[in-house]
Amino acid sequence: MTIRTVLVTGGAGFIGSNFIRHLMANHDYNIINLDKLTYAGNLENLKDVEDNARYRFVQGDIGDAEVVGELMSDADAVVSFAAESHVDRSIEDPGTFIQTDVYGTFVLLEAARQAQVERFLHISTDEVYGQSIGDQRFTEEDPFRPRSPYAASKAGGELQCHAFRATYGLPVVIARPANNIGPYQYPEKAVPLFTINAIEDEPLPVYGKGLQIRDRLYVDDHCQALDLLLHKGELGEAYNIGADNERNNIEVVEAILEMLEKPKSLIRFIEDRPGHDERYSMNSQKIRALGWSPEHDFEAALEKTVEWYKTNRPWWERIRSGEYRDYYERMYGRRLAEAKPYEEAG
Ligand SMILES: NC(=O)c1ccc[n+]([C@@H]2O[C@H](COP(=O)([O-])OP(=O)(O)OC[C@H]3O[C@@H](n4cnc5c(N)ncnc54)[C@H](O)[C@@H]3O)[C@@H](O)[C@H]2O)c1
Repeated sequence: MTIRTVLVTGGAGFIGSNFIRHLMANHDYNIINLDKLTYAGNLENLKDVEDNARYRFVQGDIGDAEVVGELMSDADAVVSFAAESHVDRSIEDPGTFIQTDVYGTFVLLEAARQAQVERFLHISTDEVYGQSIGDQRFTEEDPFRPRSPYAASKAGGELQCHAFRATYGLPVVIARPANNIGPYQYPEKAVPLFTINAIEDEPLPVYGKGLQIRDRLYVDDHCQALDLLLHKGELGEAYNIGADNERNNIEVVEAILEMLEKPKSLIRFIEDRPGHDERYSMNSQKIRALGWSPEHDFEAALEKTVEWYKTNRPWWERIRSGEYRDYYERMYGRRLAEAKPYEEAG
């Protein structure tokens, strides 16, 4: 496989921007970043690479076959991040998720087939498995049981990748990563939301009793894993990418408060998300057998993340003054007014 140009979709988002930075630093590829710049896309995430001669940004929708077809003819490989990515927003507006995560993925695959690209790395999610019960740790062979509109849309996108492999021989590889944390994550997501609210001495809205368990993967470790899969992943195969850093939300919140030296009295227990998955847990032996392992344990990953939000206030202040403010009010206004403080909830 000879890669000269990589088409990255969704590169202005959280993981995509970190991955573009990783790719530029570790390879001499040309990179085309196709991103629609939804509320989650932010070109500030890529300020340090925007003038690099090997980097090109194109604003466009992965569902637009004309734009996608044109860019695909210049690409040898595709790394596809573009998606609507937030579960809570999928509960409010599932149609947008079908449009991008399912239909958009189809448009990319079809264009990749026509252009005969050499590699198509698709970023799926651990949420396709649904919630793990008891000690269940999902392997790549486990069935899909998505429970949110987001997870179902991601499952729909991924299944098409497998179909394009089986039917047309498209050289696809699939990544199923756990929850990422790190720089440039939009503050609607749990860790930046809690961190920024704590910095601002605002209440931290925790769903239910905060007992849901997630595995927290540091975004740089994820980028290393994706680099490996792009070059060494077996065609047609899916790979779990977990860090074995499982913690429940209340443990995460307490760790953030401790790092920032803020009181637990900022915690509020709010009405839970409908259908909230209790736990995601994956066995990642398959990618570890290829030679990857995460460098950050939970504490190191969280410390680096919290430190970044502490020192990059202008980045999140600009976001919080825009669309985010309305979203936050819709999502948390009433729930916070009815919330239980930390002491009472027990
Ligand atoms: N963040 C996580 O913890 C996590 C975990 C598992 C999987 N994933 C997957 O990784 C990928 C990236 O996640 P993220 O957290 O960086 O998301 P994000 O929401 O931060 O970024 C998504 C990016 O995609 C762009 N985009 C959205 N719709 C588009 C469209 N129709 N056409 C072109 N661009 C579009 C947005 O503008 C944004 O830049 C997603 O596919 C997500 O499902 C994320």
